[in-house]
Amino acid sequence: MTTKQQAITLAFTGASGAPYGLRLLECLLAADYRVYLLISSAARVVLATEQGLKLPSGTEAAKAALVEHLHCDASQLVVCGKEEWFSPVASGSAAPKQMVVCPCSAGSVAAIAHGMSDNLIERAADVVMKERGQLVLVVRETPFSTLHLENMLKLSQMGVTIMPAAPGFYHQPQSIEDLVDFMVARILDHLGVEQGLVPRWGYDSRPTV
Ligand SMILES: Cc1cc2nc3c(=O)[nH]c(=O)nc-3n(C[C@H](O)[C@H](O)[C@H](O)COP(=O)(O)O)c2cc1C
Repeated sequence: MTTKQQAITLAFTGASGAPYGLRLLECLLAADYRVYLLISSAARVVLATEQGLKLPSGTEAAKAALVEHLHCDASQLVVCGKEEWFSPVASGSAAPKQMVVCPCSAGSVAAIAHGMSDNLIERAADVVMKERGQLVLVVRETPFSTLHLENMLKLSQMGVTIMPAAPGFYHQPQSIEDLVDFMVARILDHLGVEQGLVPRWGYDSRPTV
């Protein structure tokens, strides 16, 4: 695989579910992906609220804070500013072919569904769609309004994968980490990244009923 094939764009937006995004980032870096990470202003509030992780505003300082939080090798991590229009993710000539928005707010779903391209997250998603790449939105909201559902249908019909942050319970989770890993495992499966986070359906012993 070339470096470009192993690159991916990951966006954190302001939906609840920061642990999903952080765990996904950790797994992608462990799988040696070059990760272009985009973080919305609302995502920063969610990270602080849910994880106590207060990211500084500069991209290098934010990267350092993430590395400290995750205790990971981040040589392959590139944090991009929300108006960093010269970032590779902003152009079809350089952008990775895969992008995940995790967690994805209903607001970002709407903006992406309508091609707003008003910040780097929306632009990067627009680029992946126009280049016929793989876009995965890990949407979190409840309940969904008709508008949310219409936006998701529109995107799904364009080939976008709508993956609600809705972990299963059949693997008998013992902790929040088990629930998070359930979702992250399904996302990695869709991206084609090898993972062994959760036992696969039908391959492991399961309780008799
Ligand atoms: C702690 C917190 C949790 C939130 N949870 C959700 C959520 O689960 N789903 C959602 O669509 N919006 C949620 N919001 C609201 C969004 O952050 C808000 O609509 C924001 O404008 C989204 O912007 P973004 O998509 O650019 O990040 C939450 C906001 C905060 C502060």
